[in-house]
Amino acid sequence: MEILKLPHEIVINENRIGERVIELGRQITLDYRDRELMVIGTLKGSLPFFADLIRNIHLPILTDFISVSSYNGNMQSSGKVKVINDISIPVKDKDILIIEDIIDTGATSKFLFDHFKSKNPLSLKICTLLNKQCARISTFDINIDYVGFDVPDKFLIGYGLDYQEMYRNLPYIASVKRQAEGF
Ligand code: IMP
Ligand code: MG
Repeated sequence: MEILKLPHEIVINENRIGERVIELGRQITLDYRDRELMVIGTLKGSLPFFADLIRNIHLPILTDFISVSSYNGNMQSSGKVKVINDISIPVKDKDILIIEDIIDTGATSKFLFDHFKSKNPLSLKICTLLNKQCARISTFDINIDYVGFDVPDKFLIGYGLDYQEMYRNLPYIASVKRQAEGF
C-alpha cells in the first residue's frame, strides 16, 4: 500500500540525505576528536536522522533523548514548548550536542539550549538536519552549529517529520502541495 497519497514534491531525496549525513558525521568526528560526546536527540522527529548520524560519528558517545512538544501535530507552531520526557543522564561537565530534525521559528531550539545550559555542560552545540531560516522569529534566533540543509518555508514531511504523527517513515523529505494543506 502506498504511504503518501497526497500531492507532494520530493524536496530532498534519500541519496542526498545519506551523503549529507556522512559529511556531518565526519565534521562532528573531527571537531570533537579525542573527546567523549553526549548526543541528545529530540523525539520523535529526529529519530531517523539521529540513528543514521550516530553511526557516522566515530567517537565514544553517550546517547539520550528528550521529548518536547511545540507543534501539537498541526502545521502551525504554538510557540510554547514543554518537556514531555526529559533525559536520564546528567549533562554537567559533558560535551553536549543536541540533534534536531528541523528548526522553524526557533522556539524549540532556544528552549532546549536554555534548558541544558542551566545544567552546566562543558560545551553545548546544536545540530539540525533542516533549517527554515526564513521562518525564524528573531527572539528565538540562536546560533546553529551544524546544518544539514537550508529549506524553504514550506510544510515538510518524511525522514522523521510528521503531519499528525504520520509519514515519519518516508525515506525522503517532501513538501505537501499548497492545495493539499489542511487535508
Ligand atoms: P520551532 O519550535 O518552531 O522551531 O519548531 C520545531 C518543531 O516543529 C520541529 O521539531 C517539528 O516537530 C515541527 N516542525 C517545524 N516545521 C515543520 C515541518 O515543516 N514539518 C513537520 N514538522 C515541522
Ligand atoms: Mg512534529
